[in-house]
Amino acid sequence: MSPIFVTGGAGFIGSALIRLLMAESDYPVVNIDKLTYAGNLASLPGLLTEPMYVFSQTDICDRAALDRLFDQHNPAGVIHLAAESHVDRSIHGPGEFIQTNITGTYTLLEAARAYWSGLSGEARARFRFHHVSTDEVFGSLGETGLFTESHPYQPNSPYSASKAASDHLVRAWHHTYGFPTVMTNCSNNYGPCQFPEKLIPLMILNAVAGKPLPIYGKGDNVRDWLYVDDHARALRLVFEKGTLGETYNIGGHNEKTNLEVVDTLCALLDELKPQPDGRPYATQKTSVADRPGHDKRYAIDASKISHELGWTPTETFETGLRKTVQWYLDNPAWVAHVVSGDYRNWLTRNYGERT
Ligand SMILES: NC(=O)c1ccc[n+]([C@@H]2O[C@H](COP(=O)([O-])OP(=O)(O)OC[C@H]3O[C@@H](n4cnc5c(N)ncnc54)[C@H](O)[C@@H]3O)[C@@H](O)[C@H]2O)c1
Repeated sequence: MSPIFVTGGAGFIGSALIRLLMAESDYPVVNIDKLTYAGNLASLPGLLTEPMYVFSQTDICDRAALDRLFDQHNPAGVIHLAAESHVDRSIHGPGEFIQTNITGTYTLLEAARAYWSGLSGEARARFRFHHVSTDEVFGSLGETGLFTESHPYQPNSPYSASKAASDHLVRAWHHTYGFPTVMTNCSNNYGPCQFPEKLIPLMILNAVAGKPLPIYGKGDNVRDWLYVDDHARALRLVFEKGTLGETYNIGGHNEKTNLEVVDTLCALLDELKPQPDGRPYATQKTSVADRPGHDKRYAIDASKISHELGWTPTETFETGLRKTVQWYLDNPAWVAHVVSGDYRNWLTRNYGERT
């Protein structure tokens, strides 16, 4: 069976997708990841000896390397998640976001299109390129309303602007070249193996380390939270059954203010890992200056993927968050490697020194 290329498979969502594909499908997977600070192969335990899995440390901006991978593996399709993904980093240093999210997506599209152009028959008919994007491309909502697939693009951060640009490239490649694409725009994800710069793992780890829990401004920004395994299931479904040229919004129907998220986390930790002196974790909350240009509210209308493909999330915010807190408490080795930076030596430790 031809493999699927998953770009960014060592990241938070990509690793959840690969764990799902390995456990529940027959697809061989080629994981293409540059291993930036956000790439962590320890999130894919046990795959080293798995014959259905290949890892390639490759930058999606490297056209020659991508061409070699397409020639070598003859994939049935691509699910493209590789990106710079952290809004705060994009504010302090937008260059990498322009490079990976725009130039990288362009380079990957062109390599994939060249490969697809040389296919014929069934291989050509089944090939598809799935671009994974975010609801942040739509900008910010007021008190009411939801993002549908036809919502105007109004990206406000360098991150969301670079993702919006990549979405436009994918759309144009379909429209101009007939290149077989599908696209998904998902809300905020949470779950195991998320790099602890993002809100939920940051709060869990700071709380148990006795550190302050920094909350932007009044903590009243609203995000629509989705458990990462529900996103992975939706990605598989759209890759297999989505209509070419279409986009699908994915969301969890879980609108929460940042303050609600932190309060729920603190209550869960009070229950699952009470402090020796009985002090509630919520006493560690601290307000910090707001993020510049901070979008007020995101909320997804996921009715299209639900009606057309039958996807609905399996986790509620309460069940998903409980699983997430428990995972971080149960996996101190993963956390310690990330916090110490040791995870960056994972390849060398497991494969030896590479030239
Ligand atoms: N995290 C969310 O809440 C969320 C929500 C919706 C959409 N998304 C999108 O999903 C995708 C994955 O997000 P994530 O949270 O898993 O991100 P992440 O930052 O955890 O992982 C990104 C991965 O991409 C790799 N990468 C970065 N630059 C690369 C390059 N030039 N070449 C090859 N690999 C490279 C990194 O090493 C890392 O493994 C992104 O495209 C993001 O925009 C994320």
